[in-house]
Amino acid sequence: MTNKQLYIRLLGYSRPYLWRIVLSMIFSLVVAGSDVAYINLIEPLVDNIIAAGNHDLVYLVPVVIIGLAISKGVGRYLQEYYIKTAGQLVIQDLRNDLFTKIMHLSMAFHVRQSSGQLTSKVLNDVGVLQKSAADALVDGLRESFTLVGLVALAFYKDWRMAAVAFTVLPFCVIPASQLGRKIKINTRRSLGRIGFLTGTLQESFSGIKVVKAFGREETQIQQFKDENKLYYRFLKKAIKYTSLTAPAVEILAALGGAGVVWYGVNRVLSGDMTQGQLFSIVAAIMMMFTPVKRLTKVSNMIQQSIGAAEGVFNLLDEPLDVVDKPDAIAMPRVRGDIAFEHIAFSYGDEPILTDVSFHASPGEVIALVGPSGAGKSTAVGLVARFYDPQQGSVRIDGYDIRDISLDSLKKNLAFVDQETFLFNGSIKDNIRYGMLDADDQAVVEAARQAYADEFIAKLPQGYDTSIGDRGVRLSGGQRQRLCVARALLKDAPILILDEATSALDTESEAMVQKALVNLMENRTTLVIAHRLSTIMHADRIVVLDQGRVAEVGSHQELLELGGLYRNLYDMQFREA
Ligand SMILES: Nc1ncnc2c1ncn2[C@@H]1O[C@H](COP(=O)(O)OP(=O)(O)O)[C@@H](O)[C@H]1O
Ligand SMILES: [Mg+2]
Repeated sequence: MTNKQLYIRLLGYSRPYLWRIVLSMIFSLVVAGSDVAYINLIEPLVDNIIAAGNHDLVYLVPVVIIGLAISKGVGRYLQEYYIKTAGQLVIQDLRNDLFTKIMHLSMAFHVRQSSGQLTSKVLNDVGVLQKSAADALVDGLRESFTLVGLVALAFYKDWRMAAVAFTVLPFCVIPASQLGRKIKINTRRSLGRIGFLTGTLQESFSGIKVVKAFGREETQIQQFKDENKLYYRFLKKAIKYTSLTAPAVEILAALGGAGVVWYGVNRVLSGDMTQGQLFSIVAAIMMMFTPVKRLTKVSNMIQQSIGAAEGVFNLLDEPLDVVDKPDAIAMPRVRGDIAFEHIAFSYGDEPILTDVSFHASPGEVIALVGPSGAGKSTAVGLVARFYDPQQGSVRIDGYDIRDISLDSLKKNLAFVDQETFLFNGSIKDNIRYGMLDADDQAVVEAARQAYADEFIAKLPQGYDTSIGDRGVRLSGGQRQRLCVARALLKDAPILILDEATSALDTESEAMVQKALVNLMENRTTLVIAHRLSTIMHADRIVVLDQGRVAEVGSHQELLELGGLYRNLYDMQFREA
């Protein structure tokens, strides 16, 4: 993306807040006008009041000074208020768009990205953009107007002297733009580092138990320190170049200033110019350097925001791979006929699933069995469209699921795996996660069928007890039963169970297993399990091996076949 494209996109975001920006521009004009008026009044002050000894007009001097100060102050306040709120609103929109985008990106994207990097993008990158863009807008508008006013005044008063001052201006622009490029690059790099920093933080906090168990606190600390140091390295460069700009411009500006004063003094001495004219124009030119300096600073800030914006827009431009077709079909409630048809899938180059076909009639339980890494989780994930297959299709009730709207597909699915993720919030809200309009009675009924009712009743606030990060601690089995209740309440015709009990101890496994039996009733179920009882009672068993369907049949048939299933059975299940 070129800088120009980035500017245009950023400007696109400010369109809804145009009136704020226009108001701010108007008040910038008031501020700039007040400054120019000050300078313009020096000449009559010196020539008409002081030099002419006009006592009657002296009272005007403080009145004018105070009046102009008030108009400048009020203008400045309103200018800043409107432009800064506009900036914040733009940032808010950008952040919302970014989060929306991240939420809609497929699992293929999410497994590639660390959550730390994503968090950092939404918070830090947008934050830098916010700060630099707001400052740039505030100063940019005001200082450009002031500069234009002062330049016009200087040329109007004496174009020859103004021209002398201006010969140095091009020399100011060149180093400023060179430095600007470096600032942009280093801002982008430093933001990349802060992504890693956030990642290290997140990992250390969420994995604190493992850190403590292995006594690895010092390693984590060292890693954090190293990341911090790397971040500082890029930041230091950015600071170096930002701080260099103003002095460089100042020195160049002094050359211009020196030329002007030298030339002007000569002209006053030779009688070509009054003292008032000289003071006035020298003041105008000297004052001009302030906006020039500030504007180079503004250009630095713009480079910083461009550095940050690049990453933000790149993420916003990430192609959405799993999306609704324009004419996607909304399926109210499917019967639950699932067909895998010649599926080929890979995450990258290596094929993970090859020519996988099997079928589940409504209400059937199909067990997927196979060695670890055979592609079982990948296969069931395709039904939820975590990814789309490269070849073949998954059909539900005869429809390719890519033709069904994502929303209606998800409404027809319940998914339970071994990650028992619960959100911060009450037990009730967690059970209701997939079915927001369920009433309390339905929640309790789902919990009862999931064998969760009993332990929930014993919690301090029952169904209103807070869980997740800041609430009660639940055991693995209890958490899993809440997940089962969540799936039960959703009452979807298709159920996917991916090793739902494998992280549990035998006792809680038995409980969860009982809950799962309730859950599987009257649904088409794809189940990946390590428990023989689940697999034995499946209508069909699909044995996957290295991404291919190796065997299909009932427990008895497959045992008699004496193939891979027989081997797995002998190794894993016999003792059960
Ligand atoms: N997100 C991913 N990116 C790349 N490869 C993956 C990803 N997830 C799984 N795999 C690979 O795909 C293969 C199948 O994995 P998976 O479906 O989880 O197997 P199973 O559930 O049968 O143990 C494995 O070789 C695994 O390394
Ligand atoms: Mg798996």
